Amino acid sequence: MNKITPETIRSWKQARRRICALTAYDFPTAKLLDEAGIDLILVGDSLGMTVLGFPDTTDVQIQDVIHHTRAVVRGVSSALVVADLPIHSYDHPDLAVQSSRLLIDAGAQGVKLEGGQACSAQIRAITDADIPFLGHIGMLPQHVAEEGGYRRKGRTPEERDYLLNEAKVIEENGGFAVVLELIEASVAAKITASVSIPTIGIGSGTECDGQILVFHDLVGYFPWFKPKHVKSEGNVAEEIRKAARAYIERTRG
Ligand code: KIV
Repeated sequence: MNKITPETIRSWKQARRRICALTAYDFPTAKLLDEAGIDLILVGDSLGMTVLGFPDTTDVQIQDVIHHTRAVVRGVSSALVVADLPIHSYDHPDLAVQSSRLLIDAGAQGVKLEGGQACSAQIRAITDADIPFLGHIGMLPQHVAEEGGYRRKGRTPEERDYLLNEAKVIEENGGFAVVLELIEASVAAKITASVSIPTIGIGSGTECDGQILVFHDLVGYFPWFKPKHVKSEGNVAEEIRKAARAYIERTRG
């Protein structure tokens, strides 16, 4: 099976091949997604909520992402594995490179952090260190408290111009692709047409070069919170409840 590289993902923009990305945090999920043909697996800091039970991503530490990246990498032979730099692991450029190297040593083939202009020195330092970089702009979950919730971006001309510039910053600093989170569909389409690197949307309409979803949302494994943009393809939570009840019944007799 051919290994997908950051360069492969980048080349799909020209080829108009849509990128299919999902998060994963453990060995069996990663292996199943890889076997199904997923292109890119993100060890997202969403693991703070989906796996560790925190209210948001801001409690996640670099050691958590390293631990889950190692597990994911053991299950993957074809997909590109990208790991998230959690909050405060890239507060300055040297720290960004140091943290990125830890994720690469854990087996990731690229790293992602949230933000464009505000983090341009960190992004440049990462790409100068030859570490493949995936951008993330729009709604930034690590800043959910300051932003007052998971709010859609790009509704005003100022926000639209700001987001276009954010995408350019990722492109100019060597990112191989950029995640667009919760951006107005028309603005995401404009960004997609304006940059030479692929855009990977989440809740940002259908005109992006690819899509990414949190695995638990896709399969219905986190029933306590479901973002509006999510269309689940399964109901794993109910399957688990059913299996547990059947087991309890069988055991108690
Ligand atoms: O942490 C994560 O899962 C993410 C995706 C939502 C893009 O950053």
